[in-house]
Amino acid sequence: MKVLSVASELYPLIKTGGLADVAGALPLALGAQGIQMTTLVPGYPAVTRVVKKTKKVHEFPDLLGEHATLLEAHHEGLDLLILDCPPLFLRTGGPYLDSLGRDYPDNWKRFAALSKAGAEIAAGAMAGYQPDLVHVHDWQAALTPVYMRYAEAPEIPSLITIHNIAFQGQFGGNLFASLGLPAHAWHEALEYWGTLSYLKAGLTTAHAVSTVSPSYAEEILTPEFGMGLEGVIASRHADLYGIVNGIDTKVWNPATDSLLPATYSAAQLKKRRRNRAAMIERFGLHDDDGPIFCVISRLTWQKGLDLLPDVVHDIVRAGGKLAILGSGDGGIEATLQAAATHNPGRVAMVLGYDENLSHLMQAGSDVILVPSRFEPCGLTQLYALRYGCVPLVARTGGLADTIIDANEAALSSGVATGVQFSPVTSEALRRAIQRTIRLYRDERLWPLLQKQGMKADVSWTRSAATYADLYQRLLSKGQ
Ligand code: ADP
Ligand code: GLC
Repeated sequence: MKVLSVASELYPLIKTGGLADVAGALPLALGAQGIQMTTLVPGYPAVTRVVKKTKKVHEFPDLLGEHATLLEAHHEGLDLLILDCPPLFLRTGGPYLDSLGRDYPDNWKRFAALSKAGAEIAAGAMAGYQPDLVHVHDWQAALTPVYMRYAEAPEIPSLITIHNIAFQGQFGGNLFASLGLPAHAWHEALEYWGTLSYLKAGLTTAHAVSTVSPSYAEEILTPEFGMGLEGVIASRHADLYGIVNGIDTKVWNPATDSLLPATYSAAQLKKRRRNRAAMIERFGLHDDDGPIFCVISRLTWQKGLDLLPDVVHDIVRAGGKLAILGSGDGGIEATLQAAATHNPGRVAMVLGYDENLSHLMQAGSDVILVPSRFEPCGLTQLYALRYGCVPLVARTGGLADTIIDANEAALSSGVATGVQFSPVTSEALRRAIQRTIRLYRDERLWPLLQKQGMKADVSWTRSAATYADLYQRLLSKGQ
């Protein structure tokens, strides 16, 4: 089976969050299921600079008014189609924001063009390649099923995956005329309270909708989590799937990770000490035996990290330390910086994005904090499980689905892998931190918790098979 994936981020080339990890790892995992996945990505500088060996396979003379070239390439096991269109993608900032952190004003056009290219490839535009199915990710690729629905060509099945319903691709309704869609597409798909919603349009037109955990699939049916799209999701309930993400267990393997001072397995937990020492040095923390809590995250309201300043005192008073790697919301950045300044040697922060440091932190910290208000899946808790860093997570979405709370029953039957708390308030987080520190001080229980986490199957194997089944079902439905 040939599947065309359309994604705006792809690890290892371009990443702002978990979407890139998933878009990069899923094709490799599906390969083992006999599925050949080719990924269409924008030709950002980060992509064209690194992927040099390319072959021109198609020209789009008029992609929403722009001339674009389609380049075929292979990179680190991935089959790529790169949409080379310098006026849209050759920018100095990130994939969505300029260097000052502002949305590019033409994002509506950049990602409509990506989506339209996807639909044209699905319709057979590229000689020698005809996918059987199209799988698109988030709002940036959500117009692909829309363009497919209104194209002349025979339609092939499509699946849209929601990685985060908070980002919907909402733009002024006046732009509809520039999308090159028939007038009736406005009411049938795109219109959302008088504006354009790319995500709503994709959810309405794709043959099936999935999201990245079973719990989040349930949650987005409610007003609390649906972010205004709960009605649209409900209308697709019969075609809604929740498939939990896996991780690339080659990139994230403590036994072989070349980014670590010391590699280790579950049987060699003591070797983590060298990584811990390197982390203590890197962050300038006191070297004592208190637990190191870490955070590796976008610093946003979603992630609940505005609550951290309320609990810093509790961590420090109990002899713990806190190491933060992240960037995002200016207010959260400032309060965390202040907490670091007031607690030298106890709280430290590296502001920014550092993939290599994130590996060291997973291998050297005792606990990772993920107090998200909502979390479609979450990947850092999965990396943590594999690295023997115990996850302390909010009981929501994919966090609820992937971590087994160390309650009495789970501890006595030896299945616990972390600590969960709810609701997402400072008080509940504080209690969870205190509970975690008590577990940490229990020299018998703690290594058991670490080892149980390291045993958890966080690979793509099971979920890739579930995607393969879903693709098969969509194909047979279409016949
Ligand atoms: P989201 O996609 O919502 O940000 P996920 O947990 O799914 O959350 O994925 C986040 C990904 O980005 C993980 O691979 C995580 O390690 C990485 N990450 C987040 N912030 C940073 C950072 N500051 N430096 C390095 N990696 C980061
Ligand atoms: C989104 C979500 C995160 C998920 C990731 C990959 O960024 O916020 O929970 O893990 O996508 O699916």
